[in-house]
Amino acid sequence: MATQSREIRLARRPKGEPGADCFAFATVDLPEPGAGEVLVENLCMSVDPYMRGRMNEGKSYVPQFEIGKPLEGTAVGRVVESRDEKVPVGTSVLSMFGWREAYVAKASSLRVIDSSAAPASAYLGILGATGLTAWVGLFTIAKLKDGETVFISAGAGAVGSAACQFAKMRGCRVVASAGSEEKVVYLRDELKVDYAFNYREGDAREHLQKAAPDGLHVYFDNTQGPQLEAALYELAPFGRVAMCGGIAGYNEPVPGPGNLIQAVGKRLRLEGFIVSDHFKELAAMLAEAVPALKAGKLVNRETFVDGLDAAPAAFLDLLHSGAGNIGKMVVRLRQK
Ligand SMILES: NC(=O)c1ccc[n+]([C@@H]2O[C@H](COP(=O)([O-])OP(=O)(O)OC[C@H]3O[C@@H](n4cnc5c(N)ncnc54)[C@H](OP(=O)(O)O)[C@@H]3O)[C@@H](O)[C@H]2O)c1
Repeated sequence: MATQSREIRLARRPKGEPGADCFAFATVDLPEPGAGEVLVENLCMSVDPYMRGRMNEGKSYVPQFEIGKPLEGTAVGRVVESRDEKVPVGTSVLSMFGWREAYVAKASSLRVIDSSAAPASAYLGILGATGLTAWVGLFTIAKLKDGETVFISAGAGAVGSAACQFAKMRGCRVVASAGSEEKVVYLRDELKVDYAFNYREGDAREHLQKAAPDGLHVYFDNTQGPQLEAALYELAPFGRVAMCGGIAGYNEPVPGPGNLIQAVGKRLRLEGFIVSDHFKELAAMLAEAVPALKAGKLVNRETFVDGLDAAPAAFLDLLHSGAGNIGKMVVRLRQK
């Protein structure tokens, strides 16, 4: 049983692209769990693009990481010592105590998960905030209707893979982009999207014209930058854009689209959202996703790296065009 834990702290705030020197490893002694507390060993943790924003200074929708303090993020772990009878030893729990191997916390601050329904890592991805982001962006924000045509950028990533599949489940025509040939093949052959293209080759606008000659009803925007500009041209009148993220500009800002005037003439609606405002929709998403996953109708592709030492590089890789992950990037901290 863990009495110490290794953790990763913010060593310095990056300017532009972060380097390995932004992260510092430390070993801490864990306290004995007090009344109502549990000791948890993490099985796996998430690295997510939004964490890049938390490395910056200044105010945001979520508190910034603090220099010298451990980073945070979702993790799934197993309770190995308990002083709360409602959360006994062996329980699988979801927490925000990622970027560390083990921790002691109040049991009431953790979410118990059903580890028989799916592998633990699925709760970091398709059955967690990632899947919910896709769901909320498509159906709550963009109000995607059955049979409509939707374009999804970063389509082979975690949110993108979920969005492509939720849209296909509603009989929509799905157009998706990604940054490598391998990802295009995955989109086409595994996720069965109707049209997939590599946004780093050729002109995104030409692809969209070919894929949706009558125009797009919805654009699920994960990137901003040139793909947002192309989509604005190719959206049909009264089209909707779910502004989910802007990864093309997380390290260095990218110029805004030069054609925002398209939104006026075509009466487009562009709406940003943050998944944490929508946790009440989780049950509806899970009611559809869990049976689909169990029936093999939902692909839960994950890219694993092993060990806490690998976490910074796995995170930094996400921020690159043509990143190595297909589906959700997961850092495995323990084999079972
Ligand atoms: N609004 C919310 O509440 C919310 C919640 C979760 C995530 N998000 C956003 O959703 C997006 C996807 O997040 P995720 O967790 O699913 O990550 P992900 O898509 O699994 O990984 C990020 C992907 O972004 C792509 N990328 C990196 N740099 C790029 C660039 N310059 N231009 C275009 N694509 C680039 C890479 O794929 P390629 O190989 O295809 O380039 C990479 O695999 C991010 O923008 C994230 O911030 C928003």
